[in-house]
Amino acid sequence: MTQQLKEILEKLDDLKKKFLKDISEAKNDTDLENIRIQYLGRKSEIAAFFNLMGKIHSDERPEMGKHLNILKKYVQETFDNAAEQLKPKATSHEFFDISLPGIPASVGTKHPLNQVLDEIKEIFASLGFTIEDGPELETDYYNFEALNIPENHPSRDLQDTFYINEKLLLRTHTSPVQIRTMERMSPPVRMIAPGKCYRKDAPDATHSPVFHQVEGLCVDEGITFADLKGVITAFARKLFGANVKIRFRPSFFPFTEPSAEYDFSCVMCNGKGCSVCKGSGWLEISGAGMVDPAVFNFVGYDSEKYTGYAFGMGVERIAMLKYQIDDIRIFYENDLRFLNQF
Ligand code: DAH
Repeated sequence: MTQQLKEILEKLDDLKKKFLKDISEAKNDTDLENIRIQYLGRKSEIAAFFNLMGKIHSDERPEMGKHLNILKKYVQETFDNAAEQLKPKATSHEFFDISLPGIPASVGTKHPLNQVLDEIKEIFASLGFTIEDGPELETDYYNFEALNIPENHPSRDLQDTFYINEKLLLRTHTSPVQIRTMERMSPPVRMIAPGKCYRKDAPDATHSPVFHQVEGLCVDEGITFADLKGVITAFARKLFGANVKIRFRPSFFPFTEPSAEYDFSCVMCNGKGCSVCKGSGWLEISGAGMVDPAVFNFVGYDSEKYTGYAFGMGVERIAMLKYQIDDIRIFYENDLRFLNQF
């Protein structure tokens, strides 16, 4: 190494020391800017050393270049670190004023149908009913056959039922959960089964291809039609108040015998007659009856020993009455102006 290069390397070393001293004393942006100009600018001492390269012996240029580059990189990195350290810290009152009002989180509400469902579940739970569940994709057996619905029954019609294939369909009512529950447990059974049902209905003010039902079933020794009336009455009073009246009319369902349809006195006009009850003073709710012994035979219950009642109810229908809604479609449109009211 020539004397010349040796001196240059010593000077670089001094330069580095001087830089480290200066940068350690830098207190503000002005100090930093001065240091940047002095050590990293186009006219800096380091730049001057680069200019010197042409003047030294070509054999020693690579060696000098290497040292210069190392120093330059070191100065740049140290400078950047120091600049970072000196940056104003994000103190809480500069970036986050805790006295400002927050951005309110908009909290959703439970869908009115779910609110009514919750209420129905609560009432029946308080009467000792369990809550059971069944699949929406059902087999023909559970949806029809085990409910004593014969092969040629109109409700099996392709026009009413969404068939997936010959054996699978979207359940048309929650009654199949009666069968599934009885298969699973022996009497006494006291259950409700809320859930979605599907029928090929064109949507209008009172029809939707997807809707909700709650099925009810009670089986034990000595259950009578009076028990059914008592439970439906207790339910209606809890939901619509002590003044509501209940009426049963003879009807037919393949899975109950005898069968009935039940009505509540109109909750709008208290039975006087209005546009909602079409002047009759009564509102149809759904069907009910005593479990047909044929159904017990399907699930292996002893129909000599046990009797039971079953009932259905439409959740949309009840919600429409409760909230005085005259078009079922509004439940499914997700219009916030409607939903926010609940
Ligand atoms: N499953 C019937 C329907 O969807 C309603 C019904 C009627 C349910 C009578 C019952 C019943 O449990 O006993 O129209």
